Parts: sequence; structure tokens; C-alpha cells
Amino acid sequence: MAWDARTYDRQFSFVTEYGAALIGLLDPQQGERILDLGCGTGHQTAELTDLGVEAVGLDSDAAMIERAREEHPGTTYVLGEAQSLTARGALSQPFDAVISNAALHWMADQAAVLAGVRSLLRIGGRFVAEQGGVGNVALTWAALTGAAGDVGLPAPVLPWVFPTPAEQATRLEAAGFAVRLVQHFDRPTPLAPEATTATWAEMFGRTVLDGLDATTRQLLLERVNARAQEAGLRTAEGWWADYTRLRFVAEAS
Ligand code: BEZ
Repeated sequence: MAWDARTYDRQFSFVTEYGAALIGLLDPQQGERILDLGCGTGHQTAELTDLGVEAVGLDSDAAMIERAREEHPGTTYVLGEAQSLTARGALSQPFDAVISNAALHWMADQAAVLAGVRSLLRIGGRFVAEQGGVGNVALTWAALTGAAGDVGLPAPVLPWVFPTPAEQATRLEAAGFAVRLVQHFDRPTPLAPEATTATWAEMFGRTVLDGLDATTRQLLLERVNARAQEAGLRTAEGWWADYTRLRFVAEAS
């Protein structure tokens, strides 16, 4: 799936803003080598550079990496697939830490990602991540799948992986990590002032929307907002997404 990197930055900047807490958990030290996995448009990676870290951002989307390089010329960005990480090029020296914010749930083969991350870390290196946890966007996804049914489309398959805390801890241990912290919590997230659940679906629900003719797409998006409103995803303050986060800190053993 190719991303619209500019719209992502304009309407979904909260993704990076919420990442501040993750950088707090990471506690980066000057001179450390840190990989930002699934870096998107690269803001978090550049923040690490500003903190004196030797930061490298990796993303599988060419438009995201291109924008990251344009916006943050002082930081290294690599186009690459997180499910098949190997120590090559800018990834060839061991890392002191890997951070990942709101990216892991896009990766179908979680075990392959965790094994790859482990292979890039020195012993004792930290892996600090936040992803959607079980129950994430349940109301939003129900609005989208319900709307798909309303316009006569087959029921879509959930395109993300939202693990339980136990599932992810088990996978981390199997990949060679000692798990230090796992948190699973709801984080109702206000959308940008001009955004609705349909805007969210246009950015993130592409597996459902791509390939539809203009009329069906428009009808579907109207039904998404109608259903989202019925589900309470619109309040007097605006529209929100029902995010549930899974956060962990693990150490390469
Ligand atoms: C998330 O950050 O939880 C998320 C974002 C887009 C699609 C699905 C989940």
C-alpha cells in the first residue's frame, strides 16, 4: 500500500505527538545508535538525532522515506522491509536500541519482525514499541465493515495485527528478549479538527477502499460516518478514534 505522506503529516500528526511518551520510556543517551522501525515521515527519528543519538529511520514505503529525507536532511533514512531485516548498509553495525511507534500492527509476520530486530541489537539492547493492542479501533472497524455491507461489498478482513499482551510477550521471549514492561490501555484519540472517521478510513482503510468506483466510494464513506456517529465516535468536541495501545520494553538477551 503506497501512502499519501503529506496528508498523513497534515491530518495525523498526533501519531508522532503521542510518541513522546515512548521516547521517554526509551531514555535515549547521547551517542547511542538507535533504529526507528516503521519511521513513516521520520519526525521521531529526527527528534532522536536532535537528542544526540546516531539515529536511523527505516520504512517500507518509498513516499514516506522520500518525505523524511526532504524534511530531515541531517538524519539517515533507509527504505526497507521490517519483516526481513538484515545487517546491511546503515543497519550493519549493532544498535543500542530499536524504537517503533504505531507501525508493528501493519506487519503480518510479527515473529519475523521481532527476530529481525533481535538480530540487529547488541546484547542488552532495548526494544521499545507501541502498537495497536487487542480491541484497537473496534468501533471504527465495525463502522467500516458495516458500511461495506451497506453498499453491498463482502465483509473485509482485518488488515492489522492487534496482539494481546500475553501473545506479544510470548513472541518477544521466543525471539530472544527479556520482557521488562508490557502495558495495554485505551487511549481515545481526538482526530484533527477537520477530520472524521471517513477521513481516518481514507488514510488507513485502503484495503477496503482501493479499487472502488467513485460513486461506491462516496456512498461507503457516508455510511462510515453515519455508523461511526451511531457508535459514539462523534462528540460535541469532534470525532475521535477508539485506540487501544500495547506498549512494551524488552531487552535483547
Ligand atoms: C493505530 O495506530 O493503532 C492504527 C492506525 C491505523 C490503522 C490501524 C491502527
